[in-house]
Amino acid sequence: MIVLGIETSCDETAASVITDQGEILSDVVLSQIEIHRPYGGIVPEVAARAHLEYADHVVKQAMEQANIGFEDLDAVAATGGPGLIGGVIVGVMTAKAIACAHDIPFVAINHLEGHALTARLTDNVKFPYLLLLVSGGHSQLLIVRGVGDYTRLGTTIDDAVGEAFDKSAKLLGLGYPGGPPIEAAAKLGDAKRFALPRPLRGRPGCHFSFSGLKAAVKRAIDALPPGELLDQDVNDMAASFQAAVADVIADRARRAMHEFQAQCPDGTTLVVAGGVAANAALREKLQQVVAKEGMVLVAPPLNLCTDNAAMIAWAGIERLKNGPPDGLDFAPRPRWPLDPDAPKAKGAGVKA
Ligand code: KG4
Ligand code: ZN
Repeated sequence: MIVLGIETSCDETAASVITDQGEILSDVVLSQIEIHRPYGGIVPEVAARAHLEYADHVVKQAMEQANIGFEDLDAVAATGGPGLIGGVIVGVMTAKAIACAHDIPFVAINHLEGHALTARLTDNVKFPYLLLLVSGGHSQLLIVRGVGDYTRLGTTIDDAVGEAFDKSAKLLGLGYPGGPPIEAAAKLGDAKRFALPRPLRGRPGCHFSFSGLKAAVKRAIDALPPGELLDQDVNDMAASFQAAVADVIADRARRAMHEFQAQCPDGTTLVVAGGVAANAALREKLQQVVAKEGMVLVAPPLNLCTDNAAMIAWAGIERLKNGPPDGLDFAPRPRWPLDPDAPKAKGAGVKA
């Protein structure tokens, strides 16, 4: 089976062709970071227009790199949500047009399912496994039992972790996106200099909360002597912030591992995915926790942790192996929880 995947739900216009043997024939990712950087964050309307302008070109490039024609495709998959709806519409319409013109099946993929199943493409991980998804839009712990079969153990009750990195970086004058410069600055800083809180650490359940941490960063900066932040201040704050995030995530993941082992005694793997999974300090901390709990950590390569279309094409293949494609009447979804039955998280500004 050869499948084309299209991803347009955030600020990457991406297309990829892969086979059901897990061979990535092409993986094109056009980042819009430079377009959004002046605004210090993603502007949905600007993103939608950029997707519209580049989607055809990116698909063409993916097909050329894979060295195949549309007649060689067995199906086309596109992110159908959740995400910025203007972009999702562009990707879905592009995929539907290809499906229609070439008479092949169309599959609408949940973006989170794309992240969730990537470890099966890269590391052939068997069900069930525990997934820690940490990105700019999501912070979730989920049991992945099978394709379309997810149990959410925890989510954020306010900001996503990537959002906390981005907002804290902005406070430190480090630019957007904030994860990479915070990680770089943290390497030069003293994580003990600022005593930042560890929200929800040690509390029951597996939910996350990051908005208090971001507020604490602001308070700590405001308490410094007036004037420009010194490099050392920035580095120490970045290190203190990153250590707090890693502590909190390790604590929540540890609790989720206990829950996972109770529910799935055969399960042994924690998979980490999403842009924040690129953070080496976080990976190292998780590695320690996982080893203590007798589990193994699987972290896909960085380019497949962040948003990409190979994960969408792969999820399309997994879906088609397990059931029928979607109809061309599929309507893009701004919200689309992986586990619709999960109890609602309570807190200010809860995100699904
Ligand atoms: O998964 P992703 O590419 O896009 C979505 O949000 O879906 O994640 C982007 C997020 C941004 O918030 C970015 O700051 C964060 O991932 N990020 C990192 C690192 N690289 C990217 N956060 C911490 N450390 C990093 N090295
Ligand atoms: Zn994502």
